Amino acid sequence: MARSFHITTFGCQMNERDSDSISQILVDKGYRQTESIDDADIILINTCAVRQKAEEKALTHIGRLSRVKRKRPDLIAGIIGCVAQERGIDLFERFPYLDLVLGPRNIYHLGKFLSQIKEGRRRISSLDLASDPTSVPKCNGYLKGRVKSFLKIMEGCDNFCTYCIVPFVRGREVSLPAERIIDEAKYLVSQGIKEITLVGQNVNSYNTKNKALPTFPGLLRSLDSIAGLERLRFTTSHPKDLSDELIDLFAELKSLCPHIHLPVQSGSNKVLRLMNRRYTRDDYTDLIRRLRKTRPDIAITSDMMVGFPGETERDFEDSLGLIETIEFDSLFSFKYSERPGIMALQLPGKIKEKEKQTRLSILQDRQRGITLSKNRSLEGTLQEILVEGPARRGDSQLTGRTLGNKVVNFPSRTDLKGRLVRVRIVQGLQNSLRGELLDRQD
Ligand code: 5AD
Ligand code: SF4
Repeated sequence: MARSFHITTFGCQMNERDSDSISQILVDKGYRQTESIDDADIILINTCAVRQKAEEKALTHIGRLSRVKRKRPDLIAGIIGCVAQERGIDLFERFPYLDLVLGPRNIYHLGKFLSQIKEGRRRISSLDLASDPTSVPKCNGYLKGRVKSFLKIMEGCDNFCTYCIVPFVRGREVSLPAERIIDEAKYLVSQGIKEITLVGQNVNSYNTKNKALPTFPGLLRSLDSIAGLERLRFTTSHPKDLSDELIDLFAELKSLCPHIHLPVQSGSNKVLRLMNRRYTRDDYTDLIRRLRKTRPDIAITSDMMVGFPGETERDFEDSLGLIETIEFDSLFSFKYSERPGIMALQLPGKIKEKEKQTRLSILQDRQRGITLSKNRSLEGTLQEILVEGPARRGDSQLTGRTLGNKVVNFPSRTDLKGRLVRVRIVQGLQNSLRGELLDRQD
């Protein structure tokens, strides 16, 4: 009988959270998680379809399973997540050795599917986009030893940005009931979790579609009152739904960290319109102004795309100008990538790959300078760090994050994992900060 599993996760925080839920289901059934696929009886790959590259990566990974499965035909190989939803049962044609294909909304019945496979059924798929995503299992013992966790508050998306595949692979927007979220948050805290990040495709429209209460600010208020929850974050927000009430909470709630990830996508009004983003460049800069007025130390990060159909040199210059004006703490930037089913496929003015690459390099180059100077501007400041554990580079270094979500590495002889400590920033680097511990830790 199968007793161990291995799961590889690609993509966003939603996928990470989904993989945690799946792991919890399997742990509850008595399976053990293994580090290497060679010891696993069940191998799962949780996939991302947001860009073609992400999808290709997933497909290459699936291809590699062929050899493993040939050696051990009894193992169960499953593909879950956004590529599973997008490609569906065609995956069985291309990879005949697969046993299971589950879309992101159908992962919670994994236990049932595994039983069916053990009874001899082959090639099981579950791809119902209308399936209720609210039966998320509570993560429990599986979390032991972690200091932070994601908590899913909604599934799906109704925004239909013209470049985006998400509404097609994660379905319509559904908010999870507030009592369940609050219950789970309390449970996480009781398990030693100090920081919770609420995740969803568009968290600030929480409960607005179904006109239920609380809306997002109300949910944040309830979570903030949980004793022992040190830090609360959320991602991702859509600029069009960022209310004044929510902005005010950055000054009001003790646990809400001064960081917001607010994808802007472009600095050109024309491109924003073609993307169906439903805000203008001025709307966006005004939001940033209000956020900074309310909470001057707030860290602001964003996503931006280059080479969207119809993006001229001038539109691209507008994007460059915007990042110079706003000075994001960091920016994820991408070349526009065609995805099946998206509305942008019908737009004229496709940009050549080479041109996209040139624009991306220019954008990333500019942003690198901005990020570095932002990080350097923190030199000499005191920062509160939630210690996550030993730093990757070793030599008695610990790592953790500031309230603004920046990585700080600092030397320490004691293990301070899970503790909130104060450090002085001694150096701002490109991707992290170096600090020194201020308080004596006993
Ligand atoms: N091509 C390139 N980037 C994309 N993103 C979403 N869809 C696409 C696409 N088709 C980017 C957006 C989004 C982030 C998660 O991925 O910037 O905010
Ligand atoms: Fe996450 Fe979107 Fe990628 Fe799915 S397609 S994993 S929702 S980023």
